[in-house]
Amino acid sequence: MNEKERADLKHELRTRLEFYRDLGVEFLVSPRKTSGKDGAATAENQLLIASGFSGAGGEITPDGEEWERLIRKIMGCQACPLFKGRTQAVPGEGNRQARLMFVGEAPGRDEDLQGRPFVGRAGQLLTRIIQAMGFSREEVYIANVIKCRPPENRTPRPDEVKACSPYLLRQIDLIRPKVIVALGKVATDFLLQSPKSMSELRGNFGEFQGIPVMPTFHPSYLVRNEGNKEIKKMVWEDMKKVLELLKS
Ligand code: URA
Ligand code: URA
Repeated sequence: MNEKERADLKHELRTRLEFYRDLGVEFLVSPRKTSGKDGAATAENQLLIASGFSGAGGEITPDGEEWERLIRKIMGCQACPLFKGRTQAVPGEGNRQARLMFVGEAPGRDEDLQGRPFVGRAGQLLTRIIQAMGFSREEVYIANVIKCRPPENRTPRPDEVKACSPYLLRQIDLIRPKVIVALGKVATDFLLQSPKSMSELRGNFGEFQGIPVMPTFHPSYLVRNEGNKEIKKMVWEDMKKVLELLKS
């Protein structure tokens, strides 16, 4: 490692630790320790990840063909007008046998360009939250309610949600995670169908088709309220409940 790489690494480590402190993280878990009784499965998943077989090209999972069909369908979808403005659709990515799934709203500019969910500014924050929980992005599954970027990142319309929702439903059905984190209002409304506000709903488990759903603030909301440590702490409180449930 040269001088510059060492300095960059130090900077990255410092900003990450500062972020954990702001979240209210009291200790750090090494990813290994979270594997618990699923250790074997996790080791296997890590092998899959290392060999490039998880995520976009996961053909060795039992549902591999079905996944390939689903992704192809999403990439060519014209079920609502949003396809006209996309560079590419963003189906989602991660471990197709994940116990923990994150559902966001819709791709933004960076996601539309790269074809991957949560890779922009909000995405970096989500990645840090996932890491603070003791996981890597590859160990969880990350998707959105809407697969194509709405113009100017406007909130998706109900007819767009309706047209796109079969894809997320199929993903949830194939993954069957132990818990879903709903990021922000669009995902929470879709999964919990509650008239209550985000502030009322966050922090309490709801349920979608028998799967516990934890609604929490969207990472973009954290970005927009960057100086507000209370909001970050609330998100971390919510994630601690998710970790408790995963342990049980
Ligand atoms: N916001 C979202 O809801 N999803 C993404 O993938 C990126 C930003
Ligand atoms: N409103 C939203 O749409 N999302 C949040 O996370 C908080 C408030």
